[in-house]
Amino acid sequence: MAKFLFVTDLDHTLVGDDLALEKLNQWLSEQRQNYGTVIAYTTGRSLPLYQQLIAQKELLEPDILMLAVGTEIYYPGSDTPDSEWTAKISPGWDREKVVEIAKRFPCFVFQPPLEQTSFKVSYYTSLDGLAVTIPPLKSMAKNQGLAVQTLDCYGGGFLDILPESANKASAAIYVQQRLGFTDEQTIICGDSSNDLSMFENMLCPAIIVGNAQKEVLAWHEKAPLGKRYLAKNHFASGILEGLEYFGFYRG
Ligand code: GLC
Ligand code: MG
Repeated sequence: MAKFLFVTDLDHTLVGDDLALEKLNQWLSEQRQNYGTVIAYTTGRSLPLYQQLIAQKELLEPDILMLAVGTEIYYPGSDTPDSEWTAKISPGWDREKVVEIAKRFPCFVFQPPLEQTSFKVSYYTSLDGLAVTIPPLKSMAKNQGLAVQTLDCYGGGFLDILPESANKASAAIYVQQRLGFTDEQTIICGDSSNDLSMFENMLCPAIIVGNAQKEVLAWHEKAPLGKRYLAKNHFASGILEGLEYFGFYRG
């Protein structure tokens, strides 16, 4: 075996089946110890919500932690996000202005304070609302000199507004390049719409766990064939199945 960069979403991808997680953890920590495999987590959670999760679940300490949908990147032992990444995603972002604009749309309900971060403004909403509100919201943002992207998740129930240059894919590609991993040496895993940016924009092997959301399954059916594997199994068990399919793991 050689080392690789293992990038995984947390909720409903790595986390969901404690027994399978234990098995995967054991294999991953051997890979890290013996070959220098790098373990990277990518999640929509903020730092306090990530800390809540690690208090509840047996997760390995990651080498790279990408939080708030790729807008913050952390390294072990530091609570300060990578400043180079922050500088890269800052142009065209003004959180206050984003919040002001979104206030004009009554169908957006602000998510609780712990969900809000410097570079991610999050709302609860509905799919019907989104179709009519996203275009005017985007043009208002553009007129104010902002460069933002909108990301809907969980069937349109969640809306994140992020800097145009930050999402799970751009953060993972930044990490991949910074650490010098090729696409063949990288693997990504996910289940929901905020993982789609990775599946759409990264050329490395990708694992979609069997319990993936219907939006992701629908995208997978229509998208051009790629190095993408839809597992039958769920959560960490689906990841193990995918790792075996791509020849990283022998069960
Ligand atoms: C996570 C975050 C939430 C966000 C969602 C979709 O659940 O906690 O704020 O809206 O991911 O990215
Ligand atoms: Mg998930």
